[in-house]
Amino acid sequence: MVSIRDGQDLEFSEFERISGTSLNMLYRNLASNSFKIADKRLVAYEKNEPVGYLLLKNMELGDSSIGLLMWGAVMPEFRRKHIGSELVENALAYFKANGIREVYSATTKDNIPSIKMFKRNNFEIISFNEILSKHGLTAIKLYINAFLFPNKFILRKLI
Ligand SMILES: CC(C)(COP(=O)(O)OP(=O)(O)OC[C@H]1O[C@@H](n2cnc3c(N)ncnc32)[C@H](O)[C@@H]1OP(=O)(O)O)[C@@H](O)C(=O)NCCC(=O)NCCS
Repeated sequence: MVSIRDGQDLEFSEFERISGTSLNMLYRNLASNSFKIADKRLVAYEKNEPVGYLLLKNMELGDSSIGLLMWGAVMPEFRRKHIGSELVENALAYFKANGIREVYSATTKDNIPSIKMFKRNNFEIISFNEILSKHGLTAIKLYINAFLFPNKFILRKLI
């Protein structure tokens, strides 16, 4: 039985152990940096073993507060059990409780499991131009924090 908990006490080595099973070297390094700056870490535990995580950040874009799902991973043997979706649901509840109504994430265009998971949780793919027209040039902050490389889709959910 998996439980999702606040992961502020998660050991960095445990975090890296999960990343090591799930992310390539570039993304693993970026995720490790984000570990330190995340406003909240959610962790999925199976029998007290951490098996997945999601890093969250609160951001101000102009007058709007938005939520960012920075990095997430579930260890291979625990996938397709809705652990990723439960992490996302918990993140949305956290952002909503903090008055945030707009949540973003990004994933590479060839990451079918990730795209499908977000779509199943009612995220939509949007263009950076849409974010620019809504938030103006402050959208650049999102561009930087979400590492919006050209090979990525931006995903958004209004909550
Ligand atoms: C993306 C990831 C976090 C999804 O975690 P998960 O716990 O397996 O996802 P869920 O079980 O909640 O999946 C939800 C839905 O997404 C879809 N989905 C997930 N993985 C899929 C796959 N491999 N193939 C097809 N559809 C998939 C399914 O529709 C699934 O619902 P269903 O099982 O009822 O059909 C996991 O695959 C992972 O850690 N990948 C490597 C790291 C990564 O890419 N992270 C995200 C980018 S930062």
